[in-house]
Amino acid sequence: MASVATKFELKPDISVESVESSKEAESAAKRLRQAIRYHNYRYYVLDSPVISDAEYDVLMSTLQQLEQKFPTLVTPDSPTQQVGGSPREELGLVKHPIPMLSLKTVYTEDDVLAFDQNCRKELGMAEVEYVAEPKFDGLAVELTYQSGRLALASTRGDGTTGEDVTPNVRTMKEVPLVLLSAESTDVPSRLVVRGEVLMFIDGFEELNRRRTESGDALFANPRNAAAGSLRQLDPNTTAHRPLHIFLYEIADISGKEIKTQWELLQTLQKWGLKVNVAESKLCHGVNELLRYHQDMYEKRDGLQYEIDGVVYKINDRQSRERLGFRSRDPRWAVAYKFKPREATTKLLDIVVQVGRTGKLTPVAVLEPVVVGGIEIGRASLHNQSEIDRRDIRIGDTVLVKRAGDVIPQVEGPVGDQRSGSERVFHMPSECPVCGSEVVMSEDKKTTVCPNMNCPAQLRERLIHFASKQGMDIEGLGEKRVEQLVDAGLVTSFHMLYQLTKQNLLSLERYGDLSAEGLLSQIESSKKQPLWRFLNALGIPHVGEHMAQVLADNFQTIEKLMHASGEELQSVSQVGPEVSRAVVEFFADKHNHTEIEALIKAGLQLEGATKAKGRQPLDGLTFVFTGTLERWTREEAEQLVAGMGGHAASSVSNITNYVVAGPSAGSKLAKAKALGVTVISEEDFAAMIEKVAKGGS
Ligand code: IVH
Repeated sequence: MASVATKFELKPDISVESVESSKEAESAAKRLRQAIRYHNYRYYVLDSPVISDAEYDVLMSTLQQLEQKFPTLVTPDSPTQQVGGSPREELGLVKHPIPMLSLKTVYTEDDVLAFDQNCRKELGMAEVEYVAEPKFDGLAVELTYQSGRLALASTRGDGTTGEDVTPNVRTMKEVPLVLLSAESTDVPSRLVVRGEVLMFIDGFEELNRRRTESGDALFANPRNAAAGSLRQLDPNTTAHRPLHIFLYEIADISGKEIKTQWELLQTLQKWGLKVNVAESKLCHGVNELLRYHQDMYEKRDGLQYEIDGVVYKINDRQSRERLGFRSRDPRWAVAYKFKPREATTKLLDIVVQVGRTGKLTPVAVLEPVVVGGIEIGRASLHNQSEIDRRDIRIGDTVLVKRAGDVIPQVEGPVGDQRSGSERVFHMPSECPVCGSEVVMSEDKKTTVCPNMNCPAQLRERLIHFASKQGMDIEGLGEKRVEQLVDAGLVTSFHMLYQLTKQNLLSLERYGDLSAEGLLSQIESSKKQPLWRFLNALGIPHVGEHMAQVLADNFQTIEKLMHASGEELQSVSQVGPEVSRAVVEFFADKHNHTEIEALIKAGLQLEGATKAKGRQPLDGLTFVFTGTLERWTREEAEQLVAGMGGHAASSVSNITNYVVAGPSAGSKLAKAKALGVTVISEEDFAAMIEKVAKGGS
């Protein structure tokens, strides 16, 4: 580990028990915060931590405990407060003190030569010094620090007025709430910095993967995902999105003079702000600018984030002032974009794919064409509404781009090339896989096959059906489900309950014992609380929690199956989306028949998860981690649910308690990092006993 010299302790050793006076507490909190802020900086900004995660966790939880013991100590900019606040009705507007201008964009070397020539002429210099930076493909933001504290964060908006995203930006770990400095005089009294919020490609892919699972609409590219994540009304949502930031400009500063862009980058970094020094370069003269563009062009596919070109800026800030601005952009900077990744080709056909959640997606079949070095033969057309909006017809010559430079995208038909033989596309009214009548949303943006036994969905649905949060059939995991489906032994949920030992023995890797084991697991899964069954069905938008809400309010599967949209929406937690999904799900005749078959197979579903009325653990969320001794994890979770609480599987800002047994690992660490209260199994038992007796 690197050894670093700082004027403060890296690991203040503080025992909360022995802190008694509030004066002592104040000084202890100060020491801890100073250390934590520095470690955040080492970790998030420099990517070079100097203490271990475990040591960091100790500092964080000590501060947390201290603030709990002395609540008046909590300040809004304490590192423990870097979590989401409460949701807002709408994002407020912020007028930028100085308009956020754009950059002139150029596309050729000649344009760059002309830019340089103009700079040399205006400044009367033989050679100009520039800073070349990546042109980040994200969302421009402005951060205002007053006396070193983050006071305001806004989006670019129209350049004059942007949206207030302060609570959202406060959840971003890379954004310090307090600027860092060795001596406090070092930090400017006011600093307005600008930069770009980005989602890295791996985070974007992971987010979309999760959204596929939950049936949410996918983000088209990392930039949209970053913008969507930042402009959330509920900062807790932003807190869970993998956002990054690179700062690159100062719009206003008091109490400190910065002479060059290069110095600016180093200085911002020194104050704990994230900059991209690694990919930025000080360039002397235009040839170095052109080389930089070439280098970055070659490098771009290997970067963790997307860039769509490079930006050249005159290094010397005084020279910049001499050059000044045109109406909308500065004369001292220019963006040199990369060649667009696009090509034209023929749209041969549009086929329809059914995804594992039942979603129908129209896919373009293209005459293969190379775009940005990759051959593209197919591209998602997303939905009917997109096809209509772009007026894409089969037989068109179309422009193909790699959206956000990654995902192939059909932009639309190219000018007057139609012969009249092109065909307008309509989504099929029946599922191409199972023939069920499909359901299209009013806005034509989603079309789904509602049949839960549709073979396109069966494998994934069965895995979910048998999973822990569903029917909890131990031993029926991915591999075995696949085997059963492939062998044609199970073509719908209820057929699981008709399996015989003979059936299983006909499959590979089954012996007497394992076949009997699985059958007995299947048998014992018949008795279930209703909510598990509802979750197991995989109704869009109905996860574990919603399943519990529905079970509590409708008590029997029959009642729920016959509930109208209105009745559903009268339940406080059920919105139009869920209500619509539930109604559509049960309206499908395949689903109806299937549920009847399941009940006939002997399922016994027990009504509500909890009695009506206010429950002792209402509104509280628990996460269990590590080994529990008194209960199994499922029992503990049921206990919580039975008392009106919610047991979640992962720790987040909305978790109220983490119950940690021995050998608790990452969840515990996360709880500590988020400042979630951690209790032992004994504490939990005592709590349950107390609330059961009527205390709280
Ligand atoms: S400097 C007055 N530097 O490009 C110029 N902008 O068209 C201030 N951008 O809105 C911008 N990377 O969102 C600058 N390294 C970089 C940039 C960058 C991306 C974006 C920014 C701006 C747009 C300009």
